[in-house]
Amino acid sequence: MTNNMDSLLRQWDGEEVIIHCDRPTGAWIVMAVHSTRLGPAIGGTRMRSYPDLEAAVQDALRLAQGMTLKWAAAGIDSGGGKAVIAVPPDLDPDDRVQLLRRYGAFLCKHKGLFLTGPDVGTSAEDMDIIAETGDPYVFCRTPAAGGSGEPGLLTALGVLTSLEVAAERLYGSPSLKGKRVLVQGVGSVGRALVDLLQKAGAEVLFSDVNDAAVRHFRDSVGLPFIPPDEVYDTPCDIFSPCALGAVLNEKTIPRLRCRAVVGAANNQLAVPEDGVRLRERQILYAPDFITNSGGAIGALNVETKGCSRQEAEKRLTQAIRGNLAQIFELAETEGCTTDEAAQRLAGKRLAGAVK
Ligand code: PHE
Repeated sequence: MTNNMDSLLRQWDGEEVIIHCDRPTGAWIVMAVHSTRLGPAIGGTRMRSYPDLEAAVQDALRLAQGMTLKWAAAGIDSGGGKAVIAVPPDLDPDDRVQLLRRYGAFLCKHKGLFLTGPDVGTSAEDMDIIAETGDPYVFCRTPAAGGSGEPGLLTALGVLTSLEVAAERLYGSPSLKGKRVLVQGVGSVGRALVDLLQKAGAEVLFSDVNDAAVRHFRDSVGLPFIPPDEVYDTPCDIFSPCALGAVLNEKTIPRLRCRAVVGAANNQLAVPEDGVRLRERQILYAPDFITNSGGAIGALNVETKGCSRQEAEKRLTQAIRGNLAQIFELAETEGCTTDEAAQRLAGKRLAGAVK
């Protein structure tokens, strides 16, 4: 084990990490269970390529911790965990399916220590495949398979709600009409958000690194495209990171020309001090594990509480609106960052939990 890996795992405050090598594909499965204090750990499965195993473990650990905070703040009795499947860049589609099946069996073997749903690189269809061997530990299967489907739309609804709360704080009205919003990443959540923002009358700009996505949104939908290297310098009212994490860091924050950051990506702050950097620049930051909790809250309400889609939407928007307003208020009265305020809110619920 490298020194880095050793300290990474030692310094983590979670409960358990299981690392499994899928020999037929050479993929690594990293299952990180951060906390089971409120219930069994639930979190998405992220599938992508990483430079090395250490980077995959690091991602899993941070994402799992985020899930603990997400569930706690949302008032849902689930623990926090996340799985990362680090795949070779040239994985064959048939081999991928086999890998998902073996992953389902892996979940089963651990008997509900960790339950999963989709995340970056996995879909509701993938959940159907995982469930062939991993039932009953899989959320968000397709509606045809009896699940609540792709959570992206519900997540986007939660982000839209967060944008409204931020607008209310900044401009005195939750209306997004005429507000210039730059969406970074038009994947499953980003594209649904673009749609909701357009319906709300916002002026939407977008960026993405995927050529097909750029062509679609620039040429067919007609949205202004911002090249990836200009995202942080582009003036807008609200910047909405909906791609991967760590986009708010010591290099990008000085460049930002927005009044708020409200997006769906997990782990947007590279390090906690980035919260301070944003605050010093008077940029309102809506903590990611609050803004992006809509998919998780919605899916759990539909699949474990028997809620209708409409009721689940109502619950998730209410939870996010209430939490975010409270966090903005707390950050102001306590003079702390909004990220700290959000951690405190989640921490309070975790502390009060009966083991
Ligand atoms: N990817 C989701 C998130 O980060 C995880 C998730 C969605 C887990 C739906 C369970 C159900 O919030």
